Amino acid sequence: MECFFDTANIPEIEKSLSMYPCLGVTTNPSILKSEGSVDFFPHLLQIRQLIGNQRSLHVQLIAQDCQGMLAEAAVLHETLGQRVFVKVPVTEQGLRAMRHLKNGGYNVTATAIYGKMQGLLALEAGADYIAPYCNRMQNMDVDPWDVIACLRQLGDEGQYPGRILAASFKNVGQIMAALEHGAHAITVPPAMLRSALGLPAIQRAVDDFTADWEDTFGAGTNITDLLR
Ligand code: E4P
Repeated sequence: MECFFDTANIPEIEKSLSMYPCLGVTTNPSILKSEGSVDFFPHLLQIRQLIGNQRSLHVQLIAQDCQGMLAEAAVLHETLGQRVFVKVPVTEQGLRAMRHLKNGGYNVTATAIYGKMQGLLALEAGADYIAPYCNRMQNMDVDPWDVIACLRQLGDEGQYPGRILAASFKNVGQIMAALEHGAHAITVPPAMLRSALGLPAIQRAVDDFTADWEDTFGAGTNITDLLR
């Protein structure tokens, strides 16, 4: 599973890195807003330091015109390094920018995808990742699983290099559905991964095993004690 953390929360990233698979961190302006008043570049540099150079950092552009997007992407390259993935919303201006950026050797994540044609156009523009917004599509009565399955099929048939990075999740069921329908990757807040381990039955099973162990070998004894 290619899994990314969809958060800009430093303690959350730090805590989760040792527990959950993480190929990188994705951010957007709303994710940054939820961190309160942060300094944009120092905060992103801190995330980069935390995740290291092997994982990817995805940062969204703000400008809505192609020229502005290219200027912002250049600044992201200069400050965050050439490994940064520039997130570009799939608008007409965004598609134009993506083509320029790919020609310039940038890594591009096409974002804000709500439909099949939009995703296909992003693949055509050469995006490295395309990010369909699963929960937001469901909110609008669009079937995200149909969109993902279709984009996966067209992507495979057309041999586009772009990978499907499913995004915008509100529960674990949506994450699994995205993967089942062909998403190559998912980006999720780590708290959502944690919630998959939150079933009371899981802890109850662990407690029951502990109780049986203690009945057999004595309370407070563990496996290492039995070697002595
Ligand atoms: C990821 O890169 C997207 O921007 C994000 O998953 C959107 O999530 P939301 O629909 O919860 O805002």
